[in-house]
Amino acid sequence: MKNPFVYGKIVGKENFANRRKELELVKNAILSGQNVIIYSPRRYGKSSLVYNAIQELDVVSIWIDCYGIISKKELAEKIATEVVRNWKAKKIVEVIKGLFRNVRPKIRLSEDVEVEFSLEEEDKAFEESLELPQKLAKRLKKRVVVVFDEFQEVAELEEDVLPKMRATFQRHTDVCYVFVGSKRGMMEKIFRSTLSPFYNFGMHVTLNKIPREEFKEFIRKKFENSGIKINDDAIDKILDVTECHPYYTQMICHRLWFNAFVGNKSVSVDDVVRTIEEIIHEEADAYVTIWDELTLSQRKVLVALSKGETDLYSAEFLQKYGFKRASNVQVAVKGLLRKEIINKVKDKYVVSDPFFKLWILRRHTSS
Ligand SMILES: Nc1ncnc2c1ncn2[C@@H]1O[C@H](COP(=O)(O)OP(=O)(O)OP(=O)(O)O)[C@@H](O)[C@H]1O
Ligand SMILES: [Mg+2]
Repeated sequence: MKNPFVYGKIVGKENFANRRKELELVKNAILSGQNVIIYSPRRYGKSSLVYNAIQELDVVSIWIDCYGIISKKELAEKIATEVVRNWKAKKIVEVIKGLFRNVRPKIRLSEDVEVEFSLEEEDKAFEESLELPQKLAKRLKKRVVVVFDEFQEVAELEEDVLPKMRATFQRHTDVCYVFVGSKRGMMEKIFRSTLSPFYNFGMHVTLNKIPREEFKEFIRKKFENSGIKINDDAIDKILDVTECHPYYTQMICHRLWFNAFVGNKSVSVDDVVRTIEEIIHEEADAYVTIWDELTLSQRKVLVALSKGETDLYSAEFLQKYGFKRASNVQVAVKGLLRKEIINKVKDKYVVSDPFFKLWILRRHTSS
């Protein structure tokens, strides 16, 4: 039997808890031709949300994973390849040649078609590729949705990239653009700064954790429907620890389910406690490595946040944690945010990994 808990990849609707409100928001925006900007900390379910919204619509989607892209040429190739794959023509080579005016792409036809440009033609190829989604929409007579996942990576490319993208996209009447990102600072710089070409380019959607009651229901059903017993206390214990973080919740449930499946077909609070210990034990080396690379101030802030401190800049806090100035706390917070060890959620800082938080607390709770 397949484990009903899935983590570490985009999940389809059978593994996707609730988020009805956000799904409707994204779907309505796409249908009304509005661009969408989605950000949240890592592994909150951004990609899955967009994926599921698109699945529920009658649109053509082009998914561009920007992670690891290091040049305009690569970005152009990804866009061109995806568009061509959706073109649905018999004589694909001729179609591709006809699509480009000033560049001569190489076409690789292995399992699936791939478009490649030469480095000399990079700029032209980039400009022409940006036009392709609109051409595809016209050809298929359907709305096209282009998703740029991990979009913040694109902002690190050459200076002309964002202005060119913006200038082109705003002319596209039959294409809706969805920008997904996990680095809040970068995404805000791109979409909220008045100096940025993408300023106010779409509707902002912030993704939060999954509401507790809905997640409880999701977990209960998944266990029950696969023949594993679990009581409310055990589910509560899971969510207390993971704080309803989608990824970590699915991760621990995946382990609990497996152990129950090969064992006595039930999950108790004790099983949850034991599994938490196992995870912390297995991850300990990784946590030590992260910890060792932090400055003393960063460690202090991390301990404080793990203990639930919220007012990081008060005189009382500074004294309690041995900071001379609030600016020292600020620098530490910035460093932790950059490393994504902490996130800002609803104006509060939180430790990203709930199991790392537990590991920290174990070491720093007197009594
Ligand atoms: N609505 C949901 N219900 C249940 N689990 C979810 C949901 N959304 C996400 N998850 C869990 O979180 C994991 C990460 O989801 P996803 O890859 O969509 O997040 P992301 O925010 O795009 O992550 P990243 O920052 O790594 O790109 C999934 O593999 C799944 O385990
Ligand atoms: Mg993602």
